Amino acid sequence: MMKKILQIKNAPILFHRKVSSCARHISLSLPAIAGTAEPGQFLHLRISSGSPSPLLRRPFSINDVQGDRVSILYEVKGAGTKLLSKMLPGETLDVIGPLGMGFDIDPQKREHLLVAGGMGLAPMGLLARSLKGMKLKPELLYGCRSSAELVKPGITGCQISSEDGSCGKKGLVTSLLLDRLRICRDPAVYACGPWPMLKAVAGICHKNNIPCQVSLESFMACGVGACQGCVVKNSDGNYVSVCDKGPVFNSRQIDWDQDCVI
Ligand SMILES: Cc1cc2nc3c(=O)[nH]c(=O)nc-3n(C[C@H](O)[C@H](O)[C@H](O)COP(=O)(O)OP(=O)(O)OC[C@H]3O[C@@H](n4cnc5c(N)ncnc54)[C@H](O)[C@@H]3O)c2cc1C
Ligand code: FES
Repeated sequence: MMKKILQIKNAPILFHRKVSSCARHISLSLPAIAGTAEPGQFLHLRISSGSPSPLLRRPFSINDVQGDRVSILYEVKGAGTKLLSKMLPGETLDVIGPLGMGFDIDPQKREHLLVAGGMGLAPMGLLARSLKGMKLKPELLYGCRSSAELVKPGITGCQISSEDGSCGKKGLVTSLLLDRLRICRDPAVYACGPWPMLKAVAGICHKNNIPCQVSLESFMACGVGACQGCVVKNSDGNYVSVCDKGPVFNSRQIDWDQDCVI
């Protein structure tokens, strides 16, 4: 079925908060998008109202949907996110969405493991909400670099790891995953985070024959499959666009030996 993509030119910012040393949470009034958004889909934001720069829209995963509100969780990285970080409640953003293919939930699975690294936490809010709506129990395994970068996940059933040991278990989120898999009976894994983490998670799941979906990042321009600016190599040696065939893929569809996309 064709998914309906909308452009909302004046979506009001409802709140905008700093939630860690590097991350911010922004909530937008987007009734038309809230009604159809699926976990793993993203919004394409035009951040430069009035000025030509940045020219391109910036993609952000839908973090959560509550009533008419759609939120995103983002890290300040460059020109676009710096500008975004200065925007205040009451100001508006030009938004296209919901875009892309999200996570597929298999209700037959016994355990649903959401594996997030850093800002890979972003899509997990709506995914956890959707799982709960289906009477399934999400378990979040969330890795960050340090307690300063930890974002309160707002998801019950969460295990945390940090690279410096300042919060949760010291180490990488993959060690939480390996521990949890030892006692899982029939799990499904949903992962989002940096490429090396996704590659490691995919490797663990392939070795143990566990279904794994990964949400990929790539540089994006059009966001709708027209420019081929966001392609990654798939396991058949062909290229697929992340914006419309993804960002969520079955981990077995991806060629994990290609150079890191971002
Ligand atoms: C489908 C999708 C969903 C995303 N969801 C989120 C999210 O929920 N939260 C979040 O913080 N970020 C997310 N990103 C990344 C986000 O789009 C970029 O961080 C953002 O576009 C950077 O814009 P900028 O103008 O601030 O930085 P730029 O000036 O464009 O770049 C600054 C730095 O950011 C890096 N960067 C640029 N684009 C990306 C990208 N697409 N992915 C990763 N790094 C990038 C560049 O390598 C550079 O080092 C997502 C990306 C995609 C493709
Ligand atoms: S960003 Fe244009 S095809 Fe994906």
